[in-house]
Amino acid sequence: MTVFDVAVWRDGKVRMLDQRRLPGEEIYHDYDSAFEVAEAIREMVVRGAPAIGCAAAFGMAVEAFRLARIGPVSDWIAAMTPAVERLRHARPTAVNLVWALERLKPLLSGEPGEVPMRLLQEAEAIHREDIASCRAMGAAGAALLSRPASGRPLSLMTHCNAGALATAGYGTALGVIRAARERLGEVVVYATETRPYLQGARLTAWELRRDGFDVTLMTDSMAGHAMSRGLVDAVVVGADRVAANGDVANKIGTYVHAVLARRHGIPFLVACPLSTIDLATATGAGIPIEERAAEEVTHVMGRRMAAEGVKVFNPAFDVTPAELVTALVTERGVVHAPDALRVRALFES
Ligand code: MRU
Repeated sequence: MTVFDVAVWRDGKVRMLDQRRLPGEEIYHDYDSAFEVAEAIREMVVRGAPAIGCAAAFGMAVEAFRLARIGPVSDWIAAMTPAVERLRHARPTAVNLVWALERLKPLLSGEPGEVPMRLLQEAEAIHREDIASCRAMGAAGAALLSRPASGRPLSLMTHCNAGALATAGYGTALGVIRAARERLGEVVVYATETRPYLQGARLTAWELRRDGFDVTLMTDSMAGHAMSRGLVDAVVVGADRVAANGDVANKIGTYVHAVLARRHGIPFLVACPLSTIDLATATGAGIPIEERAAEEVTHVMGRRMAAEGVKVFNPAFDVTPAELVTALVTERGVVHAPDALRVRALFES
């Protein structure tokens, strides 16, 4: 499997693959402050919930090393607060960002001389654990799938990019798809283009092709037709935040696919690590939804397609009610027909 430096530690800096330039160019940037990392998250150099969490954790570490080079730091909490706040607000919906910051924050209270190294070690642990989680999710999700009785290859649809590019490696939804291929043999994938930012067309189709998958790209509005013609055996997506009751915030358009999947009796699987589940948010109604620039909708490849003066609605995510989710697939196991009780039980297991 192709491994990308989505957000890694290299030579004392945070290295990230610039996903804005894919699939045309594979360019890496090195960052040496949390403010630069926050800007890179905001600008979507790195994107995808678990990858944003890794980037934020390395951003904290690189900031601590930067401050330590300037001079001795006695109060790390005060010294790091501006950086933590900048990172926290870089993007609002993917809860992994805040989760990573909260995981690192207690380390700021330790022996001052050791803080930068301890932050780095924790960031490395988050990165390692994310890959292991993706592998576990992959196995758990693949176990829910089987080859169609006709003997033709299993056909899976995915939306946005929830792959190696959106995680430390292997992917959540694409992790399930990878594991399904390992378990069941050939798998064909329908990737939706994912208007307006085109993560499906630019990233998923590219990532899967590099791994030798049979991948078919379609526009988002073709999903209903594809399902009605029996082309899709299951839909597998990732998540940016799952509320305590199992409602799923994911890339805009996910909700439509979930409704269509239910209409056609097709399983709708959501793969996400526990770090994406936000028990502090009771339902999807409480999940903040990022709204992005109007140009993403009015323009295509820098060229204006809509008339000047047209108003634009551009939410980057939507919420799929838990009742439309066949199963949540996590590194700790599968939650069938998620609801508040079943989601909580996952954390108590
Ligand atoms: O705006 P993006 O590209 O960061 O949105 C990403 C998604 O919506 C993914 O589906 C989600 O983060 C799951 S990633 C494993």
